[in-house]
Amino acid sequence: MLSLGFYLTITPGVLGGFVDYYILRPLLGQKRYTIDDFVIGSKLGEGGFGVVYKATGAEDGNAYVLKRCKDYGEAEIWTNSRLMRACPDAIASYCGAFYGPKEGKSSPKSGSIWKKAKDAVIGNADDDEDDPLWLVWKYEGSETLARLMDDKDFPYNVEPFLFKNSGGVAIEVEPRGVRRKAEIIRVIFAQITANLAAAHGTGIILRDVKPENMIFDPNAGRFKLIDLGAAADLRFGFNYQPKEFILDPRFSGPEEYIMSTQTPEAPPTPVALALSPILWQLNVPDRFDSYSAGVTLLQMCLPSLRPDNNLIQFRRTLEENGESLTDWRNKLPSRMGKKGGPDAEGFEVLDLDDRAGWELVKSLMSKTRERRSSATSARWSRFVQGRNPVVSVLDSLFGASPDEEDASGGLLAWLVFRVARSGTNREGGFTEAQLSQFVEDGEIGKTEDASKYLGYVASETLAKYGVDRLARTVGPERAEKSIGKKRAEASVDADDAPTREPGFNPFRALNDGLQKLRGKK
Ligand SMILES: Nc1ncnc2c1ncn2[C@@H]1O[C@H](COP(=O)(O)OP(=O)(O)O)[C@@H](O)[C@H]1O
Ligand SMILES: [Mg+2]
Repeated sequence: MLSLGFYLTITPGVLGGFVDYYILRPLLGQKRYTIDDFVIGSKLGEGGFGVVYKATGAEDGNAYVLKRCKDYGEAEIWTNSRLMRACPDAIASYCGAFYGPKEGKSSPKSGSIWKKAKDAVIGNADDDEDDPLWLVWKYEGSETLARLMDDKDFPYNVEPFLFKNSGGVAIEVEPRGVRRKAEIIRVIFAQITANLAAAHGTGIILRDVKPENMIFDPNAGRFKLIDLGAAADLRFGFNYQPKEFILDPRFSGPEEYIMSTQTPEAPPTPVALALSPILWQLNVPDRFDSYSAGVTLLQMCLPSLRPDNNLIQFRRTLEENGESLTDWRNKLPSRMGKKGGPDAEGFEVLDLDDRAGWELVKSLMSKTRERRSSATSARWSRFVQGRNPVVSVLDSLFGASPDEEDASGGLLAWLVFRVARSGTNREGGFTEAQLSQFVEDGEIGKTEDASKYLGYVASETLAKYGVDRLARTVGPERAEKSIGKKRAEASVDADDAPTREPGFNPFRALNDGLQKLRGKK
């Protein structure tokens, strides 16, 4: 599959034809639009991939967004179609696509999809004469995260939409300040990591994650991903090479510098072309997007990193200091981070709760890809969850500080310590493997799955410490029972319980707590 993918990659004509014949045609068939279905309005943007317009549906009067693709519109159709099926909430609502005339030109050519497909396979000298591809989305709203961040009032300008159901404020009676700001940014970042985790879960790496490519839907109070033309689909092996696409150096991971420092004079396009096959073969390629998410989080917190020049300067500093955020922060001019400085409150946001945000940013922007948090573990991080989810579970069960006098206190303290610090991920306490298994095989919203996979987490951890004769999972029906009842009937499971605490089954406890935490009990 990989070599096929590579073959397809280096011969985009063949891929184009393949996509047209087998994929695009059926997709286009979903809803047959023509240019006459829309009244084209103002231009929203013009990037490497095409021109974007606001439009009105001629019949329904609804607001749409149309993108006339210059190139490789197929990639964007493919990614949009896949993600609309896998995670429709994570991206702007994609409606369909059609071949149509350029704006201003009339008389659409008939049967152009077949011509296009044929041309792609056989080759066609004057491509420009062809009708371009148009993609159609629902108009989600006027603001991207980038535009919202341009406003001095950010993140309070998003707050009323995000917290519609609680009076439009993040924390009741809390005045504007560190805590309220942190809560708003936390919710935005929870959405971003959920979107990324969903895309990655279906094998799609976006490669162009940045605030400009997150559109805000004020009705849903939700950020959604747009501009998916640069994505790679690892599951199906599609890795398009749009001609004018260059990884955005402001937001892409430092692995790009490996290339750019070796070829300082090279024009950007060859770098992009050379890099992408590397990205293709990377371990944990999704961590490419992790880095971009980390930069985005940092920008949300620190206003001085929002202007382009400052962001570029920041990235240059990191490049020079070996990608050390700590070093960068330590050497900041005191006016920036100190009291009253432009970033003082932002650093306080990052430093809340034992530096939950700062640790998350460091982990997302880690120089070494393998050490970066995945979108999923970022989602489960202390910053996004409010605190360590495992500790929350145990706390909700036994109170914040386990009583050493209690018969189970010793084991509990030990459990908290071990489980909370288990795994390679210092953020959440769950290991990457455990989390991805949970995400792949389980549903985050499903209590049984949570208890099954996260219970399994604990048993693996315990096994490492020599407690290996425990039931690996706890059936949901058992978890319904109260702790008291469990203790009473615990002798039934005496064989499975740790030897030093025959009356206490930590898995039941964890499982129970998880369900409580999820509000299912
Ligand atoms: N579904 C949508 N709803 C509202 N606005 C959109 C939507 N999709 C794109 N836009 C607007 O169009 C701009 C350009 O779209 P994008 O897909 O990022 O293309 P590009 O960056 O290649 O020009 C975005 O910055 C955004 O303002
Ligand atoms: Mg864009």
